[in-house]
Amino acid sequence: MNYSKKIIIAIDGYSSTGKSTMAKWLAREVGYGYVDTGAMYRAVTLYALDNGLFDGDTVREAELVRRLPEVHISFAPSTDGRNETYLNGRNVEQEIRSMRVSDKVSIIAAIADVRRDMVRQQQAMGLHKGIVMDGRDIGTMVFPQAEMKVFVTASARVRAQRRYDELLAKGDTGVTFDDVLRNVTERDRIDTTRAEGPLRQAHDALVLDNSTMTRDEQNQWLLDKFNDIISRQP
Ligand code: DC
Repeated sequence: MNYSKKIIIAIDGYSSTGKSTMAKWLAREVGYGYVDTGAMYRAVTLYALDNGLFDGDTVREAELVRRLPEVHISFAPSTDGRNETYLNGRNVEQEIRSMRVSDKVSIIAAIADVRRDMVRQQQAMGLHKGIVMDGRDIGTMVFPQAEMKVFVTASARVRAQRRYDELLAKGDTGVTFDDVLRNVTERDRIDTTRAEGPLRQAHDALVLDNSTMTRDEQNQWLLDKFNDIISRQP
């Protein structure tokens, strides 16, 4: 298969559906770039936490927005080729996945000015196509013209179990399964009901419910859809 044709692949869906793993795999398989937009919202959240901009669940929004020009987010491959997230030059890949950040990220992702800034940066990253981007609003807001859109979903319990297993594997033992399930459910609620860039299935998205699929089955599904779409490109 000739992958020299470049399209934009938007992968949206609920948290902990394994979107990122899937998106990364596809990008590598077809030789495209990969952008994890959730990592960008997480990095802004870490910035707000580290700079004392949170007071409980309230963030000093105007101050954060004023300081956005000093929040520089970038991605660079680690020695084993995985893309890692940097915040103002510091590798924050691990820190942005902690519960401390997960608990607050929906608050940051609901701020209109933050979203505007992130969407602008994401659109710039996709200018030359040949990119897989995963998030919540990629197929609806960032690249409504994307040639391939996938909407990934799975039951809340399945997703909570996946995230819980990940946290345990990382040695984050301070949380229970119920904590994680609550976090997943609460994030679903905030993500789907916020006014700005809510999680929504694009009308032309392909839906993938992976509650009972293996990783190999999902990858094959994705690659088949990609090949089908690319073969129809002019
Ligand atoms: O994919 P994730 O769980 O790392 O995303 C973290 C949070 O960021 C999640 O609460 C949804 C939000 N997000 C968003 O609002 N828009 C995106 N394009 C990506 C993530």
